[in-house]
Amino acid sequence: MSTTYNICLLPGDGIGPEIIAEGVKVLNAVGAKYDTTFTYTEALIGGCAIDATGNPLPQETLDAAQASDAVLLAAVGGPKWDSTDSSKPRPEQGLLGIRKALGLYTNLRPVQIFEALADASTLKPEVVAGTDVMIVRELTGGLYFGERHRYYNEEGAGTDGAPGQRAVDTLVYSEYEVERIARQAFEIARKRNNKVTSVDKANVLDTSRMWREVVHRIGAEEYPDVELNDMLVDNTAMQLVNWPKQFDVIVTENMFGDILSDEASMISGSLGMLASASLGDGVALYEPSHGSAPDIAGLGIANPLAQILSVEMMLRYSFGMGEAADDIKRAVTKVLDEGWRTGDIKQATTPAEKLVGTTRMGDLVVAAL
Ligand code: IPM
Ligand code: MG
Repeated sequence: MSTTYNICLLPGDGIGPEIIAEGVKVLNAVGAKYDTTFTYTEALIGGCAIDATGNPLPQETLDAAQASDAVLLAAVGGPKWDSTDSSKPRPEQGLLGIRKALGLYTNLRPVQIFEALADASTLKPEVVAGTDVMIVRELTGGLYFGERHRYYNEEGAGTDGAPGQRAVDTLVYSEYEVERIARQAFEIARKRNNKVTSVDKANVLDTSRMWREVVHRIGAEEYPDVELNDMLVDNTAMQLVNWPKQFDVIVTENMFGDILSDEASMISGSLGMLASASLGDGVALYEPSHGSAPDIAGLGIANPLAQILSVEMMLRYSFGMGEAADDIKRAVTKVLDEGWRTGDIKQATTPAEKLVGTTRMGDLVVAAL
């Protein structure tokens, strides 16, 4: 009997609607092959939701997400909604809000090399070849969710005593938040190469010192078989471009993970290749790690592969369809091996007729499936 899954689609802004259409194409192709029916409920998030309702995360969107079997998101944001005025609604609040509301504390960002793209990276092929890193980013704590405010400081207290504006962001972690993300990282490492690098700034921050203690306690008590080492975040940023092959699983707090994953994406050649899965204890969310690329929105040239690889992660993690997920990975590999490229992963050797747009790239993956 055919299984049915309902997917909540959140196209969002910019290139979002263009790339999510390719994700849906791939889902439908997989469904036909594996006797699975995917149904879709589309909802608003981000800038388009602000325009329609004044709210980047309307209640109907949260309801649709909660009622679904998995959420597929594309991207949010754009210059139209950019403002330094903290009281204005921002598209990103929709994204942060849904991560928090669904309790998606684990963000998986796999950095993998497609061999055909080894020379699309700005790094030397021998440095990137064979890299396979899983970044496990804590997603619902830290600076992103600490109290923040801005105010006018009349008295001018402080070292120079000058009155003026003051802004405060708070970095808070509770022990249980570190414990659960550490467990996730160790579990994933056991299914990979059994090595966890915990990234912090323990030479400066108290949150990092606690992070380090807790990760080591969980490691020693529950995962003595997994190799664990610590690395300071600044050193990690350097090591990632110096010798990325030294890493297996990187586990780190929210903001460090945000920054390091953008950096790490360039090992694979383009941010347009980096998928992500955000997992909690209920409905999970899948999205590319890249943004809404407003500069190329509507041009039909965006790379849909990070979105398609997010679908791959959805099949694997939410639906236990590992074989179908492998199919997608193989199809993407084949298309790249055949030389097809979107602009962001174009190489010097790419002939003009192999340079394709968003829809064509999606079609090629479907054909390869
Ligand atoms: C990401 C993005 C988001 C983040 C932005 C859009 C709020 O950069 O998913 O990495 O910082 O988490
Ligand atoms: Mg980011």
